[in-house]
Amino acid sequence: MANFVFLNLLLAFYLSCIFSLSNAQNAIQLPLKSVNLGNWLVIEGWMKPSLFDGIPNKDLLDGTQVQFKSAKLQKYLCPENGGGTVLVANRSSASSWETFRLWRINESSFNFRSFNKQFVGLENQGQGNTLVAVSNDPGNSENFQIVRNDADPNRVRIRAANGLFLQTQTETLVTANYEGSTWDDNDPSVFEMTIVSTIRGEYQISNGYDPERASQDHRNTYITEEDFSFMSSNGLNAVRIPIGWWIAYDPTPPTPFVGGSLQALDNAFQWAQNHGMKVIIDLHAVQGSQNGNEHSATRDGFQEWGSDSDIQDTVAVIDFLAARYANNPSLAAIGLMNEPMSPGVTLETLIRYYQMGYNTVRKYTSNAYVVLSNRLGPANSKELLSFAGSLSNVVVEVHYYNLYSESYRRMDVQQNINFIYHQRSSDLSALSVPNGPLSFVGEWSGEFGTPVKSKEDYQRFAEAQLDVYGRATFGWAFWAYKCDANLWSLKWMIENNYITL
Ligand SMILES: *[C@@H]1O[C@H](CO)[C@@H](O)[C@H](O)[C@H]1NC(C)=O
Ligand SMILES: *[C@@H]1O[C@H](CO)[C@@H](O)[C@H](O)[C@H]1NC(C)=O
Repeated sequence: MANFVFLNLLLAFYLSCIFSLSNAQNAIQLPLKSVNLGNWLVIEGWMKPSLFDGIPNKDLLDGTQVQFKSAKLQKYLCPENGGGTVLVANRSSASSWETFRLWRINESSFNFRSFNKQFVGLENQGQGNTLVAVSNDPGNSENFQIVRNDADPNRVRIRAANGLFLQTQTETLVTANYEGSTWDDNDPSVFEMTIVSTIRGEYQISNGYDPERASQDHRNTYITEEDFSFMSSNGLNAVRIPIGWWIAYDPTPPTPFVGGSLQALDNAFQWAQNHGMKVIIDLHAVQGSQNGNEHSATRDGFQEWGSDSDIQDTVAVIDFLAARYANNPSLAAIGLMNEPMSPGVTLETLIRYYQMGYNTVRKYTSNAYVVLSNRLGPANSKELLSFAGSLSNVVVEVHYYNLYSESYRRMDVQQNINFIYHQRSSDLSALSVPNGPLSFVGEWSGEFGTPVKSKEDYQRFAEAQLDVYGRATFGWAFWAYKCDANLWSLKWMIENNYITL
């Protein structure tokens, strides 16, 4: 009997050892060395332009900015005052008011969104034929077909919903009532179209392709378990995975988004576990767009996230993710929002959202870290510290690129390296306050501003970054794992000996 009790005690002791051992195995080893699985579940066209090759009229996607110059008058179409009233054609040069953002209906039909965000259409809800820009909600009378000239695709005529072509009758009268069909310079319905800029993100690719085929193959092939094997055997212990808000509505997200990213994320968690790695979920694209960039899955580049209902929608996405992955042994952290942009996203709005997002994650787990991304744009890099100090297991995330500013171009290689050792290093240590949040360099790359560089220059620059960003208390994540631009691909850099982790 006594022996039996003893054996039971021994067994209990043994089991509790196993249990705490397995807990220890699940504990997160900081700092993380991770890489972003960018351009996988949230498309960024610049990283692999060929993804867009099969789209008809692929230069006229959602968010493409265009200007129209009347061939006859040699004046630009312009919603007077930038929108809110009639269209005129009396501007001899084009800038913001004379620029329209496309919303693509199909390969040849579009809405034109003005500077003030109203859509161009026919007056009186389509009863008249004078062009105005007054609708906030495009309907049939805001649809326009762009007919391109076979010989010169930037010579166009524009057919309105009434079936007739736009014409510039005078500089101040633009109507849709033209029935001629020449391409002559004196034809008042002919326009020279200038494409000012394009956006190539998830919205554009999904809405550009037939929804049946958009993005699916890419998701299944771009990242596979072999990549997790490669990453873990090369010294990485985590991945940061950018995802979009529509994942919460999988498998039938709102148009034009395409289902399937949830299965891909599930796979990534399994592959991470198989290879002893952790996952940082990064909510990269929120409904309304927190920064207007293509990687926020914006339709037209306007930054419109921030209303109370936007906050609620985004918290609902966090709730979905936390409920699903909180107890997954591979979960390291949930990032509430990538790169909110100041001043469009105010600090007050952001903190209100971060507090609600944090509370939501904490309903499901006290262990998982919650990542709070610093704002881009004009903002103090320490602005989240006091707020974050009131929370537990939180991380403040910064992105360090020696790019996107003329100053890095003007620096030579050594000056860029010195910048890492001095400026970045001191910025990072300023984020480390006693009892404060952990710090995370959530994006950085092998590319930098100096125009001409050798392989050795790149190696030294990468080494400096590893050295300094290695002091971030939560860790770092390189952008990205794969990219057509080699210095943005950690896989390529490892394989070609540009970086040693
Ligand atoms: C264009 O026409 C509008 C409407 O008549 C007028 O208010 C505006 O001043 C004109 N602009 C130019 C540059 O002629
Ligand atoms: C595009 O949409 C317009 C407006 O809904 C429609 O009239 C037209 O037939 C469509 N064209 C194609 C090629 O699907």
